[in-house]
Amino acid sequence: MNHRYAQPPPLDLKDRQWPANQITRAPVWCAVDLRDGNQALPNPMTPKQKRRYFQILTEIGFKEIEIGFPSASADDFQFCRDLIEEDLIPDDVTISVLTQARDHLIKRTMEALKGARQAICHVYIASSELHMRYVFKKTAAETQQTAVDAVRMIRDESQKLTGSTIRLEFSPEEFTDTDLDFAVELCDSVVETWAPTPGEKVILNLPATVERRPPNQYADMIEAFIKKQQQRDSSVISIHSHNDMGCAVAASEMTLLAGADRIEGTLFGHGERSGNVDLVTLALNLQYLGLDTGLDFSRIEHIRDELVDLTSMPVHARHPYAGELVFTAFSGSHQDAIHKGLTNIEAMREHFGGWKIPYLLIDPRDIGRSFEKFIRINSQSGKGGIAHILQAEYGVKLPRTLLLDFSRHVQSLADRSAREVNATEVWNLFKNIYARQDGPVQLLNYWPHPNADDPSQIDGEVHVKYQGKRHELKASGSGPISAFARALRQLPLPTFSLEEYEEDAIGKSADAEAVAYVRLDNDEQKSSFGVGFGPNIDQAAVRAIVAALNGFARQEAQS
Ligand code: KIV
Ligand code: ZN
Repeated sequence: MNHRYAQPPPLDLKDRQWPANQITRAPVWCAVDLRDGNQALPNPMTPKQKRRYFQILTEIGFKEIEIGFPSASADDFQFCRDLIEEDLIPDDVTISVLTQARDHLIKRTMEALKGARQAICHVYIASSELHMRYVFKKTAAETQQTAVDAVRMIRDESQKLTGSTIRLEFSPEEFTDTDLDFAVELCDSVVETWAPTPGEKVILNLPATVERRPPNQYADMIEAFIKKQQQRDSSVISIHSHNDMGCAVAASEMTLLAGADRIEGTLFGHGERSGNVDLVTLALNLQYLGLDTGLDFSRIEHIRDELVDLTSMPVHARHPYAGELVFTAFSGSHQDAIHKGLTNIEAMREHFGGWKIPYLLIDPRDIGRSFEKFIRINSQSGKGGIAHILQAEYGVKLPRTLLLDFSRHVQSLADRSAREVNATEVWNLFKNIYARQDGPVQLLNYWPHPNADDPSQIDGEVHVKYQGKRHELKASGSGPISAFARALRQLPLPTFSLEEYEEDAIGKSADAEAVAYVRLDNDEQKSSFGVGFGPNIDQAAVRAIVAALNGFARQEAQS
């Protein structure tokens, strides 16, 4: 083993319970975007931007919001004052403010809270050996004394804030790098000093200030902490994960299994270095498990776009749930499976007892995203994606043989352009190959009507231009389409036979447009597909035949 990095030793937890547990209720959420998130922005937000952000957090449903570090920044102090003085805090929302465990900073912090109906005063002190010995040059006993003194001062100051209910939050900073027994002793002494009244709880926030341990070890620490602490009933166990190892979501979920009650984090994981835990991903993971999170992400793209605007921090295209591409499939086999899943959605729901679709975790509509954009076409795409785009965006459901033929054309367009091909380009290509009425055959008019002597026969009169010359042709057949084909055979055209025919309607209303698909074969066994649209099926069908005949002429010209 390479011991380049000193790691906190794992706990020797013998009877760990958490791996067998289930998360059965959502935690209390605390959004720390306006403090931990904001302090890590290259350009911190302006007061106006912070106000809007605060409003977004309340609209999502956060009831606890850490709004800043008033003693450390004049802007944060003013922001806190503005929220209180302008009565911008909804009754059911508690703001939280962070302070170091130092007298003058605590006094300033409590000044910022004057007039708040309810608030959390969040005090922190670093409890790791690394910090105590090398940053602050304090012993564990001195650190504990500082924490206890700070809590006493917060209690005294909060008693002066008449009309305000102040709760205490205490964080042993670098908890996951702290000796567990010391962390327990420190937190116990904090709760004891605060002396919560019955029913009141102190928030013990146990942070992974730097993610130095894998998530299972964080969970072990939380399970062990809860077992050892003295006042479980008077405390809320809060988790604050950072994402240095990229495991903050996993860590938060595992600590919930281990008994944690509350989660601090930020939207999209804003925060120092690789950020805080991303509350969007975490909450939507819990929602996927069936929990009522109390948070509303039903307009995720809107939230994402507003926050990108406010923070100037981009959200990665593959960010879980919110990234631009996370409901998009480019690969042909994925597109095909998704398309089949969507086509059989009710049968699948019945079979599996809930929504389940290949290659999709959740129904994008649950978070305000749509199906239309989720299949996109590039050179990796296959017929499933093309079928989906044409059906979802244009209402046309191609027969299988036509779809196979068209896929080759789309593939070659994508290869040639070496980029994604959008839905409009797919549609234009489709019409250009299969639905062109221009060419040697130009239909001017067609009137089919039942034969006066034999109504099972249809007489058709076709006015057509062939190679620029006008013709008026008449023929009969068992239906309008065969009458039309017979009439056209009077032209000096290469022989053709109608091998496939399908008709459909675009839309469901009474005036839905008709669409017809045909495949003609010529006597050289070559096929030409044609598609026609029209106000009724007869008109659509004859246009499809004309388009296919003109397709033969183009094939001939290209060969
Ligand atoms: O990451 C951390 O430890 C913090 C504390 C102030 C809670 O942000
Ligand atoms: Zn933090």
